Amino acid sequence: MTTTEKAPVTVAVTGGAGQICYSLLFRIASGALLGPDTPVRLRILEITPALGAAQGVAMELDDCAFPLLRGIDISDDAATAFDGANVALLVGSRPRTKGMERGDLLSANGAIFTGQGRALAEAAADDLRVLVVGNPANTNCLIAMNNAAGVPAERFSAMTRLDHNRAVAQLAQKAGAQVSDVSRLTIWGNHSATQYPDISHAVVDGRPAVDVVDRPWVESDFIPTVQKRGAAIIEARGSSSAASAANAAIDHVRTWLTGTPQDSWTSMAVVSDGSYGVPEGLVSSFPVTTRDGEWEIVQGLDVDEFSRARIDATVAELADERDAVQGMGLLG
Ligand code: NAD
Ligand code: LMR
Repeated sequence: MTTTEKAPVTVAVTGGAGQICYSLLFRIASGALLGPDTPVRLRILEITPALGAAQGVAMELDDCAFPLLRGIDISDDAATAFDGANVALLVGSRPRTKGMERGDLLSANGAIFTGQGRALAEAAADDLRVLVVGNPANTNCLIAMNNAAGVPAERFSAMTRLDHNRAVAQLAQKAGAQVSDVSRLTIWGNHSATQYPDISHAVVDGRPAVDVVDRPWVESDFIPTVQKRGAAIIEARGSSSAASAANAAIDHVRTWLTGTPQDSWTSMAVVSDGSYGVPEGLVSSFPVTTRDGEWEIVQGLDVDEFSRARIDATVAELADERDAVQGMGLLG
């Protein structure tokens, strides 16, 4: 250890024995999340029956001899696992299986996030930042946020970066461009089939995306493909997306901590302040810029009639989910 080495950052991850974590934990330990000069301590939360499997993953992490990895703790107690966490990635929950809609998961997973919200408030570090990946991600995030008394709501987010990355890839492929040529694309609303992937402000290689691809393709191909990509992966693989979800989680947190590129933005589900007519308090995906660990919703974008209807539809679903979990007493 040199005298100039940075202090380790504590990253808590739930669902450590699951398939997303089988990719995610190794990326974090390799430095992909926090950068190549930041040591990391991993704290893994699992349910009791999966502790043995989580231990096996920890053995494999050891066997990678990652130079940045400063320790791995595993627990089935949320407050223990979140102790001192600077970043918490809430992945653990029951994944959707064939034929199941995310709404079916509300009651199964909602209760997990009340306890975890409380435990984060009790045990995590003051600079905590939370990403909820476990589905239904927006509403699980809403539940955790509402149960984490004393933690600012802005520290909570849910993942729509996978949808964002999917949309960027689809648009780039159609345009015959590189993914790095695509900017200013937005995912609005819920991480579900109602989400609205919006290219109306997107730019491809310096040109407005709407001038590069045709409208019938956008409406009949692009939007449904992105909306239903999660289900298509489940159908093809027999289980839900894992490596791409882990990659999106890394992208989400890295962008949050290090900033969005000049003249562009990302998509993050964050607490609404009423922007774009999204009711205050809902956790909805927006176009977001980030800097030094803070995020801001991009303001002043024109929303045409087509976009308005789609934003309203996905936000209505979020409001329904909120009403459902409120009815179950999960919002504290
Ligand atoms: P998985 O079933 O392979 O793993 C989930 C793990 O979570 C299991 O090991 C399980 O034991 C653990 N777990 C369950 N309850 C827990 C709790 N209370 N505390 C801690 N751990 C707990 O599932 P997966 O494929 O890794 O997916 C995880 C979640 O991520 C699912 O809800 C899935 O739908 C969701 N997901 C979200 C996105 C997104 O873009 N937001 C993308 C892909 C998957
Ligand atoms: C995904 O988008 O791949 C995941 O959220 C899995 C799902 O249930 O769609």
